[in-house]
Amino acid sequence: MKPKLLVARPIFQTVIDTLTDTFEVTHNQADVPWTPDTWQQAIAQHDAALTTGSDPINAKVLGLQPKLKMAANMAVGFNNFDVPAMTALGVLASNTPDVLTETTADFGFALLMATARRMTESEHYLRAGQWKQWRYDMFAGAEVHGSTLGILGMGRIGQAIARRGALGFGMNVLYHNRSQLDAATEASCQARYVDKETLLKTADHLVLVLPYSAESHHAMGAAELAQMKPTATLVNIARGGIVDDAALAVALQNRQIAAAGLDVFEGEPALNPALLAVPNVVLTPHIASATVKTRLAMAQLAADNLTAYFANGKALTPLNALATF
Ligand code: GLV
Repeated sequence: MKPKLLVARPIFQTVIDTLTDTFEVTHNQADVPWTPDTWQQAIAQHDAALTTGSDPINAKVLGLQPKLKMAANMAVGFNNFDVPAMTALGVLASNTPDVLTETTADFGFALLMATARRMTESEHYLRAGQWKQWRYDMFAGAEVHGSTLGILGMGRIGQAIARRGALGFGMNVLYHNRSQLDAATEASCQARYVDKETLLKTADHLVLVLPYSAESHHAMGAAELAQMKPTATLVNIARGGIVDDAALAVALQNRQIAAAGLDVFEGEPALNPALLAVPNVVLTPHIASATVKTRLAMAQLAADNLTAYFANGKALTPLNALATF
């Protein structure tokens, strides 16, 4: 009897095909939304799950003696997993690091550019038929090349953004992170470590790339936004909840900062309606890793984690270690 695998959301059929030798696959190809109850019931009936960042795996979902042996997240972020609870209940967790680093950094930089150069705001103006003539100050934005790039959270994606800024745009790159990088890594992305306050006060463009946790909840709230330059821009490609979206909407409305670019939101896919009411924000629906090639690589890595763990007890990119299989 093959172990039963639940694929929680639609993914590439070619990836499903690589799973069917090992697993009896239930694929939510129709993308039927889960309720907390249907999700819990489905998890109770499967040995493994391929999840996305929207699908929670925690003590409540798992129950006291879960059938589930593994959940493979098709995302590098894993704040939808309670990893300590999974470990305690004997459930292996994996994510998809590395395969999305450069693509996500490309998008972070695109969002920075779109925000600084007011691309969506000016496109809306054009589409609305408001463009009548050239004006010297029409959608004049903030300089990107040669400016100071601040990065909060300096993991793989932060470093890839730093390289783009320093090497491609001649930016002065500053970062803050839980721990300072070693000198060789700092040199490879030409970035200098500063404390958070210096980062907030100095950055012309601040990009958030830190993982979401209880400690990073509202790492950018009203007090932090107040420390930024009035000409500065803020980009969040990390997770909703790292920015206090209500405080950000106020700061944008009052021009306390110049503009923001957001790919992630508190409580997404719902948005704080105040963000929709301000013009100086670029909004995208959590698509930083969304190229066909990268999404395929993410899905395949999640699938390969599952087959490797069920074949030999060794996932490729595990998030926890279990004593027994
Ligand atoms: C996307 O947000 C990811 O964590 O991969």
